Amino acid sequence: MIAITSKEKIQSKLLQWFKKSKRDLPWRKTRDPYAIWVSEIMLQQTQVVTVIPYYQKFLKSFPTLHHLAKANLSTVLKVWEGLGYYSRARNLHRASQIVLIRFHGKIPDTLKDLLTLPGIGRSTAGAILSFVFHKEAPILDGNAKRVLSRLFAVSESPDKRKTEQLLWKISESLIPKGFSNPFNQALMDLGSMICTPKDPQCHQCPLKKHCQGYLSGKPERYPLRTVKKAIPHITAVSAVIGKGGKVLLCQRPPKGLLGGLWEFPNWRIKGKRRARLRLRLRNTIKKEMEMNVEVKESMGTFQQTYSHFKLTLHVYYCVAMGKNKKGRWVAVGNLHLLPMSRIHRRIANALSGGR
Ligand code: ADE
Repeated sequence: MIAITSKEKIQSKLLQWFKKSKRDLPWRKTRDPYAIWVSEIMLQQTQVVTVIPYYQKFLKSFPTLHHLAKANLSTVLKVWEGLGYYSRARNLHRASQIVLIRFHGKIPDTLKDLLTLPGIGRSTAGAILSFVFHKEAPILDGNAKRVLSRLFAVSESPDKRKTEQLLWKISESLIPKGFSNPFNQALMDLGSMICTPKDPQCHQCPLKKHCQGYLSGKPERYPLRTVKKAIPHITAVSAVIGKGGKVLLCQRPPKGLLGGLWEFPNWRIKGKRRARLRLRLRNTIKKEMEMNVEVKESMGTFQQTYSHFKLTLHVYYCVAMGKNKKGRWVAVGNLHLLPMSRIHRRIANALSGGR
């Protein structure tokens, strides 16, 4: 598929470039399979600069796979708080327990076994196999996809199965024997430092002479981008129900969006109708939480953008007028101990006097 001479040149030029230009990243200083696995999960859909402090904090809190497997989920979510995509934390936690029981505490070294673990797809498995076990396994994360699409001017959308299969084949066939570790890392670094989505720095690229995208004069044209649908806008109302220095929190169900995180009770508002919001909130709390409250003044409106929707949350102070059947009372001073999503953390911070 790729001419041998050109393949060898691509390999050696990329490896040479990586030797002198590679980023100094904390997970590159360790050979601990568990630490590398944690880093790869955190790096899914998240940039290196965001990940670094979380990676360090996570390993301090759970230094070994055993520590993680024995921790409770709430503690894990608390350490993950702010990094987003919380299913990654839940999957990592569950996977650590599976590794402990089914694989006797050793992270598996085959694609087949790695793919049985929650949160590990083919590219993360390829990264673990090449970075930890030095196996000739390909990767195809966002960076590799872009670099390879440009290098070989792959004009079909990478969202198509056939194109994706082609890119996997290219990624696999390019790995130099015995050098999968630096080669795959080099692909990632080239993608994030030089072959960027917008405004790629082709003049600095070690592969420009071999890059069909560059030679076409329009490297940004690759990979073909499908037009993204506009994300929906959801409006909701939330109640900060207080009683003697405590506020009422609810925990989200363990599975699904933001699963396991704590939040102030909230309900979606259909349409844009904001009329009589306080009255409606009182009635909803009565119906859904079997509880009487007096709705007080507004605490303001909070906004948050998630990957698949935008949320506007109108928040009201409420005072409990009777007993509640649902939720848990938490002292305002203890709110920092519970894992919360970003928007509810902002409400909690506002309550405690800051933002
Ligand atoms: N993205 C995913 N894995 C990575 C790694 N190990 N280094 C840098 N960026 C990455």
